[in-house]
Amino acid sequence: KTMHEELEKLLQSSTGPEAQISKKDFEGFRCIFHRFLQRKGPSVEWSKIQRPPEDLILSYEKIKAQGRPEGITSSLNKLVVLKLNGGLGTSMGCKGPKSLISVSNDNTFLDLTVQQIEHLNKTFNADVPLVLMNSFNTDEDTKKILQKYTHHRVKIHTFNQSRYPRINKESLLPIASDLGMKGANADAWYPPGHGDIYASFHNSGLLDTLLAQGKEYVFVSNIDNLGATVDLSILHHLMSQPASRRCEFIMEVTNKTRSDVKGGTLIQYEDHLRLLEIAQVPKDHVDEFKSVTKFKIFNTNNLWISLPAIKRLQQQNTLDLEIIVNPKSLDGGLSVIQLETAVGAAIKCFDNALGVNVPRSRFLPVKTSSDLLLVMSNLYSLEAGSLTMSKRREFPSTPHVKLGSSFTKVQDFLKRFENIPDMLELDHLTVSGDVTFGKNVSLKGTVIIIANHGDRIDIPAGAVLENKIVSGNLRI
Ligand code: UTP
Repeated sequence: KTMHEELEKLLQSSTGPEAQISKKDFEGFRCIFHRFLQRKGPSVEWSKIQRPPEDLILSYEKIKAQGRPEGITSSLNKLVVLKLNGGLGTSMGCKGPKSLISVSNDNTFLDLTVQQIEHLNKTFNADVPLVLMNSFNTDEDTKKILQKYTHHRVKIHTFNQSRYPRINKESLLPIASDLGMKGANADAWYPPGHGDIYASFHNSGLLDTLLAQGKEYVFVSNIDNLGATVDLSILHHLMSQPASRRCEFIMEVTNKTRSDVKGGTLIQYEDHLRLLEIAQVPKDHVDEFKSVTKFKIFNTNNLWISLPAIKRLQQQNTLDLEIIVNPKSLDGGLSVIQLETAVGAAIKCFDNALGVNVPRSRFLPVKTSSDLLLVMSNLYSLEAGSLTMSKRREFPSTPHVKLGSSFTKVQDFLKRFENIPDMLELDHLTVSGDVTFGKNVSLKGTVIIIANHGDRIDIPAGAVLENKIVSGNLRI
């Protein structure tokens, strides 16, 4: 009841369009808050978790072996590409939308996406639109940039996800004092995770517009996953299902390695495929969850979803996505929680859902500057907006790169490299402390460079470091 009163008070603090939008957002928020209060215990019973049956996780190779699909243009014309663009570049030290960070040859994530889709549209004489799901954090900056693509052959639509109030961890009441975003109040709001896509897409009216244009599927992915290109074999597989067994949801999963311990995995639960996220795992099963033997695959968040099915589930109001409670400590020290949901969690609600086990190359996320170094290097070549591993690399795996905290911010990272070293023969790189790289450095095998506190190491131009440890004045 008190929450209800607080929300009403917030709404009264403003009139006009802002209050109208917030009213809709608050309906969604009330619903998730109510479900949060009703929660009893964990959302899964560990003993009921089963490995997904083999016929529900298709092998990508098999799908691909079905041959070059015919009628690509007509399939593409039923497809929409949607990028999750609600996130900021904060973890890489950037202000503004993450999608606007330059990642390859001065192209941003967004540039690469537009190039990929434009290439598809030109090659197949198709009309695949791009949809961006923005948040209140990214909408303004993104829209300014979109003007630059006016003359590209790709229609771009945007809609905004919801804006929910952060709640005080103790009182469980909103910390906002009004609907505004200024000063201390800026911290009072959050975008409630990518699971918000279903409600926001539907409420924006864009879902209906696209359905009316004859669109049938949406390919959803994280904007920072450079491997998430439109895959024609998966598209064809979806389109060729008999109408009676229409697959409404495909989740691309890939084999887990020991460094992918955190990603969600697909399980069989009460006769349905379900996404299991680490946040849902009881404490004493976390190690089991992280193991690569029991849970062999993880969710890439590349998802293919039926548009009519989204519409149906929204109308029935039957998407009950597991709530992820995300605790945060704000700058002033205040502890808040934000209630979030994940887009992949909806898999359990769709008919004939499948997983497809895709090659690792479809999962190329850029989360840290170490990831950035890899994608900017000669390990990858760029063609029509897509990155592929260079044919000149002899091993199929990517090197392990660990850059220290002096490299965390993209700006610092860029200052520390005159240009990006040759990494074709690199296996492992660790860099720590105040280190800079001159022009045309070559890194091979295992290279470890450690500048101790107060020291600085400048790797000279043209240096070739092969299986070397460089530390302080000591050179081995
Ligand atoms: P994250 O940046 O949270 O990446 O969002 P992650 O840590 O890999 O998280 P999960 O496991 O996928 O959740 C991934 C994508 O989702 C968008 C981000 O912009 C990014 O493209 N996103 C995230 C939203 O659009 N809205 C949100 O509320 C959260």
